[in-house]
Order: sequence, then C-alpha cells, then structure tokens
Amino acid sequence: MMQKIYRIAAIPGDGIGPEVVTEGIKVLERAAALDGGFSFQFTHFPWGCEYYLKNGRMMPPDGIDQLRGFDAILLGAVGAPGVPDHISLWDLLLTIRKQFDQYVNLRPVKLLRGAPCPLKDVAREDIDMIFVRENSEGEYAGSGSWLYPGQPNEVVIQNGVFSRHGCERVIRYAYELARAEGKTLTSISKGNALNYSMVFWDQIFREVGGDYPDVETHTYLVDAASMFMIRDPKRFQVVVTSNLFGDILTDLGAAISGGLGLAAGANLNPERRFPSMFEPIHGSAPDIAGQGRANPLATVWAASQMLDFLGHPDWAARLLSAIETVLTDGRVLTPDLGGTATTAEVGDAVAALL
Ligand code: NAD
Ligand code: IPM
Ligand code: MN
Repeated sequence: MMQKIYRIAAIPGDGIGPEVVTEGIKVLERAAALDGGFSFQFTHFPWGCEYYLKNGRMMPPDGIDQLRGFDAILLGAVGAPGVPDHISLWDLLLTIRKQFDQYVNLRPVKLLRGAPCPLKDVAREDIDMIFVRENSEGEYAGSGSWLYPGQPNEVVIQNGVFSRHGCERVIRYAYELARAEGKTLTSISKGNALNYSMVFWDQIFREVGGDYPDVETHTYLVDAASMFMIRDPKRFQVVVTSNLFGDILTDLGAAISGGLGLAAGANLNPERRFPSMFEPIHGSAPDIAGQGRANPLATVWAASQMLDFLGHPDWAARLLSAIETVLTDGRVLTPDLGGTATTAEVGDAVAALL
C-alpha cells in the first residue's frame, strides 16, 4: 500500500507558539506512526516578531507562495511586545487567512469530560457548540483611513465590509453543517444598531434559509447572545456570526469550556483551492512564555481538526478522546488547569495515550 505523505507548514510564531506547536507535532507524528498508512513531513517557517526585528517584515515577500503547495498549515501564535500588534497580526496571520481565502473559521465550544467549567447548574452536555465565524471580511476587512494625524481635526474611519458573496458562502456553510449534524443553527448579529451591515447579514441569513426548511434556526442580537451563552448555553448548537463577533464570543466560549488552553480553531478554505490553517485560538501569552507552563491541549485539538480535514476522522476522534482522558485523569495538567506539569509532559501524556 502506498503511504500518503502530508506536507505540513509549521509556523510556530512567537511567545508560547513554539512551545505548543512542538507538542502538536509530537502528537501528529505519533498518530501517523501508529497508523502506518500516512505520515507527515513538517517544514518549519521561522516567521514572526523576531524575524520582523531582524528583517523588517513578518515573512518574506514571497511567503504566501512558499506556503501555497502545502497540504495544511499548523500555526502557534503571533505577537510580541516590541512589535505593534496590528503589524504582526496583519502581516502574517491575517494575510494567510485572507490570501488563502480561509473564509470559514470553525471553533468548537465544547465542554470536554474533565474540563473545568465556571458556570453553576450547567450539565456537561449543555455546552456543545460549534462556531462558524466569518473569516475573510466584515469588521476585519482592513478598509479605512486616518486623516490629519496628530492634528485637532484628526479623523479615523474603520469600515466594515459585508459582501453578498462573503455573507452567503459562510452562512450556507453553516446551514450545511447544521443539516449534516442534525443540529439547530443560530445566527448572531446586531441589526438594531449596525443598520447596514447587520441588517444585510440578517436578510441573507433568511434568504439562504429558504434552501434549508429542515434546519431549525434562531437569531440573537450579540449582546443578548453573550448573556445567554453564560446563563443558558444549551440554546446554542451550530452558530454563525461575523468576524469580530466570532472572535469575541469564542474567547467567551473558551472561558466556559476549560479556558484558552483548550480552545482550538480551523481556518478553512472549504473548496481546498488553498491550504487551510489550524491553530489554537489563544495568543502568544507573553506573561507565561518560555516557562514551559503553556497548555498544549488547544493545539492538540487543532491537530485533531487537521486530521479530520485531511480525511482521518477516526484519528481526529482518538486525539480528542486522549485529551479527555488526560483531563479526567487529572495527574498531568498545566497550571492553568490546576496542575504542575510542563507543556512537554502534557504532550507526552497525550501521545502515550494514543
Ligand atoms: P493571550 O491569548 O495570549 O493570553 C490571554 C491569557 O490567557 C494570558 O493570561 C495567557 O497566559 C493565558 N493563556 C493563553 N494561552 C494559554 C495556554 N495555552 N496555556 C495557558 N495559559 C494561556 O491573549 P493576549 O494577552 O490578549 O495577547 C497576547 C499577544 O498575542 C498579543 O500580541 C495578541 O495580539 C496576540 N494574539 C495572537 C493570536 C494568534 O496568533 N492567533 C490570538 C490572540 C492574541
Ligand atoms: C484570534 C485572534 C486574531 C483575531 C487576532 C490576533 C488578529 O484574536 O484568532 O482569535 O482576532 O482573529
Ligand atoms: Mn481572538
């Protein structure tokens, strides 16, 4: 039998990024070795803030072309004190998301067995959502201007860009997912205040819904949705929302499902014209970087999403179940989960459980 070789671009990035990516790779290599039918070939790209301080840019001018031929990208985190965040993120992470048209950001908010939850009176199965975050435009379109800087008449404009094409495709993806999984679909928007963009979003949600009469839908304004995520999280199953709302609500989702150390995301180009990118949703955590304290489980979960996308749902499930065993066992956990284990020890524990 021919062994399938997956070529993966690893971009560890800054802060705790390299620490958690090392563990993600460890677990992926272990899965491949046990399976025997596929293997991984990782190519490391040293792009990030250190690279920026040496070279004056976050990645080389042909960086996107260097990544184009890979089967997937595994990213750690980007951002470091000393480089303005809007430069480090726009010139690397957001460039990749946009250039590779990764318009779906799939972020599970699911309370795994053994994961801590700060909410009272909530059953584990009540927190089981999947966010479909628009990932290519909206509030993150990067459109605007800065006029008369430093002068009394200074004006800053940041435009939201909501195209019919951009809204329809992500909303349709969410309807398809809800239908496939037999789940409800909830759209979160803010049409009462954002009287162009979100009125349009709501309209498209209804229009596309015409093709999915079998999918039960709900709609919430984002302020009420944040309240209900805390007060009554079981209302939400598949959720579709805009770029910025999805960013904020998934950190909130992380807080109710074990913390940022457990929250993963997949940046998908569903048509597979370009590589998709898998990453923990947390940042570079400069406050704990370099100490071996970072929780690598979010990255392992992102690796699980990668295996699923590459066509190995069985291995994806085994990674998740290994995470759950580490959590329920409780002996090898990083400090964010109340343990004393190092990042590498947690990665070793997951790999051993496979
Ligand atoms: P952050 O997610 O880096 O950290 C928030 C808090 O969560 C910190 O206290 C941190 O120690 C903790 N934390 C995060 N990940 C953890 C893990 N795996 N294990 C244990 N604790 C963890 O957010 P921030 O502090 O707002 O941002 C820091 C930098 O990261 C900034 O430069 C920001 O722009 C960048 N950022 C990057 C990404 C990305 O690359 N995807 C995402 C978010 C923020
Ligand atoms: C995330 C991050 C990014 C985002 C930042 C770093 C640009 O917060 O992936 O959640 O807002 O998308
Ligand atoms: Mn975020």
